[in-house]
Amino acid sequence: MSKLNNRQIEVAEVVFPCENLAENLAFFTDTLGFRIESIYPADTPRVAVVAAYGTRLRLEEKTGVAPDTLLLICRRAEVEAGAHDELVAPNGTRVKFETTDIPPVIPDLVPSLTVQKIGVQSNWGIGRAGMQYRDLIPDRLGGRYIASHIRITEGGPVPDYVHHHHILFQLIYCYKGWVRVVYEDQGAPFLMHPGDCVLQPPHIRHQVLECSDAFEVLEIGCPAEHVTLVDHDIALPTEQLRPDRDFGGQRFCFHQAVETDWTAWRADGFENCDFGFVGATGNLVSVGLVRTVAGSTLPASSHQNELLFNFVLQGSMTLECEDNQVWQLQAGDAYTIPAGKDYSFSDCSADLEFLEVLTPG
Ligand SMILES: [Fe+2]
Repeated sequence: MSKLNNRQIEVAEVVFPCENLAENLAFFTDTLGFRIESIYPADTPRVAVVAAYGTRLRLEEKTGVAPDTLLLICRRAEVEAGAHDELVAPNGTRVKFETTDIPPVIPDLVPSLTVQKIGVQSNWGIGRAGMQYRDLIPDRLGGRYIASHIRITEGGPVPDYVHHHHILFQLIYCYKGWVRVVYEDQGAPFLMHPGDCVLQPPHIRHQVLECSDAFEVLEIGCPAEHVTLVDHDIALPTEQLRPDRDFGGQRFCFHQAVETDWTAWRADGFENCDFGFVGATGNLVSVGLVRTVAGSTLPASSHQNELLFNFVLQGSMTLECEDNQVWQLQAGDAYTIPAGKDYSFSDCSADLEFLEVLTPG
């Protein structure tokens, strides 16, 4: 670390505009030997920081202009103290002072009713580490939430690296197949099977190691766009086992399908299995499964949560919302219902089961 007019500079990044991030990222990593330091957003990367030979470049997808900005990354206290006036070099290069040591920016909620049917609406895109992403809430509720259906068709070792996320909360639900993962201070690598779910607290280091063929997970998080940071300095698994470790006010949680314990849901004729994430997150998010008793219906009612996200895991049902909007739903379909909007279920199949994610806001 060195000083510049009383600023404690930790690292410098040169902004490097490029028209195609994937192409340029491959060139810098594969051809020139740079390594990835961070990348975001995970589903459609537009920014990646690479480093080598004492240089960090921030590859940003945009058209046209030559590199013209030097970012000097400072500690948060100094940026907040006002030591971040922009400078201009003689050749016109702008020198900006930024910090990464800040809480994630959480956009304001823009409530909306969204329904995403699998099949015709499935636009699978290529995201981070070669995984395929399907966006389950395309409008992101104003950028506040993201829900992704992620799949890997051909199993084997996953080209992942030890990384962590700058998020408010994030959870992973194993839908199909299996995956072997490892988390900081949570012991040896372990397998996730269908029905298993992990709560990933902010900045817990983790790595996806390998998965089966036809592997599918659901990933739900806040905010929708966040930075994924790569940690080159620790190896997983870590030596210590600290299941109760505090990560930004949250603790790691692993719900296993074999522990499923069904209790009465908020409506008659349905049962619920709660994953226990309310306590682990300080009441940020509630996650669980809901299943039906044959022939059940959900009378028209509303909720008061900030987020109500459901993903149909198996079976079928009819969802009806006020204004006579009706959808026939099946496994793979997902929806969000805004607070205060009446909705009901009918024609529930005997095997209906869905994942429900609620945030009180
Ligand atoms: Fe991750």
